Amino acid sequence: MTLPRQADLPDSYAAAGEPALTERIVARKAELADRLLILCHHYQQETVFAHADVTGDSLKLARAAASARDRRFIVFCGVHFMAESADILTGADQIVILPDLRAGCSMADMAGQEEVAEAWQELLDAVGQQMRIIPITYVNSSARLKALVGQKGGSVCTSSNAERVLTWGLGQGEKVFFFPDEHLGRNSAAALGIPEDEVLLWRRGKPLGGNSAAALKKAKVILWNGYCTVHMQFTAEHVRQWRAKEPDIRVIVHPECRREVVQEADIYGSTERIIQAVRDSPAGAKWAIGTEINLVNRLARLHPDKGIHSLSPFQCLCSTMYRIKPTYLLWVLDNLAAGRIVNRITVDQETAAQARIALDRMLEI
Ligand code: 13P
Ligand code: SF4
Repeated sequence: MTLPRQADLPDSYAAAGEPALTERIVARKAELADRLLILCHHYQQETVFAHADVTGDSLKLARAAASARDRRFIVFCGVHFMAESADILTGADQIVILPDLRAGCSMADMAGQEEVAEAWQELLDAVGQQMRIIPITYVNSSARLKALVGQKGGSVCTSSNAERVLTWGLGQGEKVFFFPDEHLGRNSAAALGIPEDEVLLWRRGKPLGGNSAAALKKAKVILWNGYCTVHMQFTAEHVRQWRAKEPDIRVIVHPECRREVVQEADIYGSTERIIQAVRDSPAGAKWAIGTEINLVNRLARLHPDKGIHSLSPFQCLCSTMYRIKPTYLLWVLDNLAAGRIVNRITVDQETAAQARIALDRMLEI
């Protein structure tokens, strides 16, 4: 996806030190008062996260945006697809802003609307036009893909409701075509007890996704082969190493991790679920966590009475989430206070209407 170019900030922003930036953001927030809502995903860095009005996983933030009817400006400290969803779910008079336009999501970029539309047609030609196939897209996808899914009778899902939405999809049709995250799809199908030989991978760019028409006819769930570069860094070997070192450690991972990692873990779930599990565990509990490093480090700081570690010995950082820096947050707020809108994220009306069908379906399910 080509995003609009991010403007260079005036030098004065880079020159300002951390305490001054914090002070100025706090002052701008006070000035904009209840016209403003700052939403922050759990992967945001601390110096941005501290300014959030609402923090959450993708589902919680989508709901917060949908219910914030009275806020004129929604500054979304997250990635592009999240800001798009917020724009779709808010009123026409509300303005959604992404502080740095380069904050995309590599997984969402792996499923372009055109290539998915082509694959969809190819699949239908192979299995027969009369076959009812339900498309489901993870919220980590472009508004255009959500619109395609809405148009074809499908739904959006997030990491906290993927199993429920997949169950719904299989109740509506004979097959589900799941985008863009292979691993969330595979982990959810396994949790529902769908046999492995009924779950098929569609490899982008290959005729019939690299499958035979017979195999596609038999499959219940067809998975697009997208993935998250951050969560792919966790391995089953990491789990075994932690268990050898700390036999009483508990392992919790995000469902974007590979199947074998989820299988070796004790629990898996969305960022919100990970936070809840750690919070609800007793003092002295030990955790190895397979998700983005900013969230793991925050949990370690919030729970000094527990042993909190990253599952991987390496820093698994989402570099696009990390693009949202206090300098950019302040810059968008300074502009708002001066009556200028910068970095607005808008989804055209037709796309928004169709994408909304898929998003509303999820909120209903
Ligand atoms: P959550 O919905 O669990 O917050 O995950 C979003 C995401 O992008 C994880 O990589
Ligand atoms: Fe996308 Fe992965 Fe970053 Fe989540 S962690 S926003 S899926 S690249």
